[in-house]
Amino acid sequence: MDLSTTYKSIGKNSWKIMAAIFENLWNYKFVPMNLIADIAHLSEEKTKRILRDLGEKNLVLNKYTEYEGSTFTFKGLSLYSLKRLVEKNEVEALGKKMGEGKESLIYNCISKHGEAVIKFHKLGYSSFKKVVDKRNYGTLNFSVLSIRSAKREFTTLRKLQGLAVPKAYAWEGNAVLMELIDAKELFKVKVENPEELLDALIEEVAKFYRRGIVHGDLSQHNVLVGESFWIIDFPQSVEVGERDWKELLERDIANLVRYFNKTYRIERDINSTVESIIGDTGN
Ligand SMILES: Nc1ncnc2c1ncn2[C@@H]1O[C@H](COP(=O)(O)OP(=O)(O)OP(=O)(O)O)[C@@H](O)[C@H]1O
Ligand SMILES: [Mg+2]
Repeated sequence: MDLSTTYKSIGKNSWKIMAAIFENLWNYKFVPMNLIADIAHLSEEKTKRILRDLGEKNLVLNKYTEYEGSTFTFKGLSLYSLKRLVEKNEVEALGKKMGEGKESLIYNCISKHGEAVIKFHKLGYSSFKKVVDKRNYGTLNFSVLSIRSAKREFTTLRKLQGLAVPKAYAWEGNAVLMELIDAKELFKVKVENPEELLDALIEEVAKFYRRGIVHGDLSQHNVLVGESFWIIDFPQSVEVGERDWKELLERDIANLVRYFNKTYRIERDINSTVESIIGDTGN
């Protein structure tokens, strides 16, 4: 069942139960069933029945060892995050699945800002499923990691508004609502003015730097090119001064320079390009 069909099949009490799980994700890998019942104001019997049903729909994972408890699957967390976007009147209708990355699922949608995109973050889900399958519940909490990743992407996009990035509209759970960009990944297109584009991309990285941001995963996969260009995909971005920001900035520039060299035979010195960004204090 796809996300919009599933959405329509969820009743009021099921949403209450999902809300109770969401509230407690930070405290429990598996939220105790009796706590869920308590918060949702439902009997334990009814709660168990609904949790079993949500389990069959692949929205939650229920465990019965040690204590009875439940947690979200990727589909469940995404559906509940969508529900929150709908309740905030940000999203009016979910559209089609547009793409699937290693760490995300992209849908288009109708939002109060017009046609838009929802990126559902999915971090550490394969390792999470592996430990669950082995019945070893480990220390991973993919929901918390995915929510953190969505938050980072949203806050970074907000800091970069006005630059060549999608407009960021809202963030709920693991979902980021943003502007729909009508363009293709750089590696899929043959650019007519590669030298100009490389200069513009380097200038954009410099503008990010002046706002205190390093992308951290910049490459031909995260640049979209159409009538203009956009840089996307910010969950791993860092602030200047944070962790290994300088190495990440060097790697971002190196990735771009190498791609333009391999594809368009453009020569650029990586070190002096990085120096020109870090040394340049103008606006
Ligand atoms: N705002 C947007 N508008 C249009 N398409 C988008 C937008 N954001 C992402 N996409 C599409 O979805 C793909 C994946 O997005 P993104 O790179 O942000 O996620 P990801 O999980 O890191 O993907 P990957 O693992 O492939 O890098 C992009 O390559 C692009 O085709
Ligand atoms: Mg990407």
